[in-house]
Amino acid sequence: MYNAYTRYVRRHDDDDDDDDVLQKASTSSNLLECLSIITKILMGIAHSVYTFVQLIFTTIYPVEKSLKNNVILVTGAGRGLGREMSMQLAKEGAKLICVDINADGVKETADAINDGWAGQGAVADYYTTNVAEPSEANELARAVEEKWGRVDVLINNAGIVASAPIMDATDEQIRRMVDVNLVSHFWMIRAFLPAMKKRNDGHIVATSSVAAFTCAANIVPYAATKYGVTGLMASLREELRSDPSVANIKTTTVHPFFLDSSPINVKHWEVKSAMPIVSIPQVASAAIRGIKREYAVVTVPELLRFIMHVVWILPQKSADYWRDTFSSQINKA
Ligand SMILES: NC(=O)c1ccc[n+]([C@@H]2O[C@H](COP(=O)([O-])OP(=O)(O)OC[C@H]3O[C@@H](n4cnc5c(N)ncnc54)[C@H](O)[C@@H]3O)[C@@H](O)[C@H]2O)c1
Repeated sequence: MYNAYTRYVRRHDDDDDDDDVLQKASTSSNLLECLSIITKILMGIAHSVYTFVQLIFTTIYPVEKSLKNNVILVTGAGRGLGREMSMQLAKEGAKLICVDINADGVKETADAINDGWAGQGAVADYYTTNVAEPSEANELARAVEEKWGRVDVLINNAGIVASAPIMDATDEQIRRMVDVNLVSHFWMIRAFLPAMKKRNDGHIVATSSVAAFTCAANIVPYAATKYGVTGLMASLREELRSDPSVANIKTTTVHPFFLDSSPINVKHWEVKSAMPIVSIPQVASAAIRGIKREYAVVTVPELLRFIMHVVWILPQKSADYWRDTFSSQINKA
């Protein structure tokens, strides 16, 4: 007898069958998803091992590009690290565009290069520019590209510092540090990147600091700008990497520890450090080696990057202990 009860039971039997089919389909799709994730993880591990082996191999037998005849623009070239990088790059036979807000300093650097290394094909030009002003950065790009045709390597190195507790730094000091140390990178990159993109060729370098991997009292605004530069450069690299039409544009971010600046330079800070501070020539040559090997990150000394990352993953109180025991203390200069 086919009655309402039979219809009810049949409908529910059909529903149960549908549920079974759906459940089986969902279980097998979950299984496939799981397998795909496990495969990706295994491939990731294999890829990491491969890149570690490759790193060891390329450290022993490095592949370096030549910078001879490259047009290289260095900001903050009027003294300190910028001047030293310009000098060392000149020895490599590069054509230097020295840029600084300090007209006398930048002329001195260019004159020293033209007098010293002209025989090796080095030549230097100089521009007095405030890189923290977007209109000046754009005008610089226009003038340099008109005269030199291209910029192969852009080194954003200009920076300033004032060491003081946060409440003692003036509003003007904080604003200026953010403008010169961080915001100027945006203006310079946006002024020079379009031509690099057109050629799908170029290299953008930034001088950050070990301050971007750690923390220290009395340089709160400075450290914040250096974290900013490191973040800017890492994300810029991702943006370039995600577009195959500009894949040949490289980035390098340099993180120096405290420099033993020459006494003629303005003293930035008094440092009490358990680690030996580094020399300006040492940082300049590490930065240039990093550019030639197309490293994304250069730290001087290299070991410090590893130590800082280990300290980051420690429990906070343990990290504080290591910092208190071994880290640098910065006093107002
Ligand atoms: N000195 C250190 O211990 C240390 C440590 C780590 C990182 N750094 C970074 O290295 C870079 C160079 O430092 P340094 O010790 O050679 O400094 P420095 O003061 O000796 O030289 C910086 C140069 O930048 C120029 N400059 C400043 N403002 C400018 C602007 N608005 N436009 C154009 N040029 C400008 C200055 O005139 C100067 O010639 C900076 O970015 C600094 O933050 C320095």
